[in-house]
Amino acid sequence: MEQLNPHKLPRHVAVIMDGNGRWAKKKGLDRIAGHRKGVESVRDVVRTSRELGIKWLTLYAFSEENWKRPKYEVKALMNLLNRYLKAELNEMLDNGIRLACIGQTEKLPPDVQRTLWQIIEKTAHNKEMTLTLALSYGGRQEIVEAAKNMLRDIEKNRLNVKQITEERLSKYLYTSDIPDPDLLIRTSGEYRISNFLLWQIAYTEIYITPTLWPDFHKERYLEALLDYQKRERRFGSTGEQITRPT
Ligand code: FPP
Repeated sequence: MEQLNPHKLPRHVAVIMDGNGRWAKKKGLDRIAGHRKGVESVRDVVRTSRELGIKWLTLYAFSEENWKRPKYEVKALMNLLNRYLKAELNEMLDNGIRLACIGQTEKLPPDVQRTLWQIIEKTAHNKEMTLTLALSYGGRQEIVEAAKNMLRDIEKNRLNVKQITEERLSKYLYTSDIPDPDLLIRTSGEYRISNFLLWQIAYTEIYITPTLWPDFHKERYLEALLDYQKRERRFGSTGEQITRPT
């Protein structure tokens, strides 16, 4: 396999982890078995990101729409999340990983919220990598929330309409202290954004792989990163205007 260029790694990788259900079905298993196997891929991608020195990793773990799934599946996902968080604390502390979350986390079951906030607090001083979990997250809902909060600030005379710029609006999003993703990976071959980080992915490179999430391990992740390194990011300029690293 080709070598990754350590100087051209994305600063922020975001992932839509899709295909757990299909993976389980193909094997004649219950969907939950797919989610359980998916947790192993989460571990692998977190570890690999940290090893490579990627500073920001954001995983779409549970969308706003996912609440519509059968009760037993939602419950199983919440249990997996709770267990994953508790099990990973030591590794996060040993490896300088800070946990963060985005989304309407107040909708999560109280025990999951408790674990989440405990771990966010315990890892708050870590500096090597930020692992952000999108939980009960929806991109449009995030933008609506930002608009409401901006209006509240206008009403309180803390903000006026003329001051509203892209930068200012960004500060009202859940991701106010996170840079926009450089690379968005989606597994299981769907060509959709599914309401993930709508504002933040304006200039993000998108990588879609047919691999189902439970089969997405280190090798597949490195392939995605290699593919990213071959792209020319222009941000609206022409190719000639971009200065390439030698
Ligand atoms: C999509 O597969 C995946 C999810 C809805 C959730 C992802 C959750 C995990 C990987 C496990 C828990 C998370 C963490 C961070 C520990 P799908 O069920 O939509 O698959 P399908 O499209 O094949 O049905």
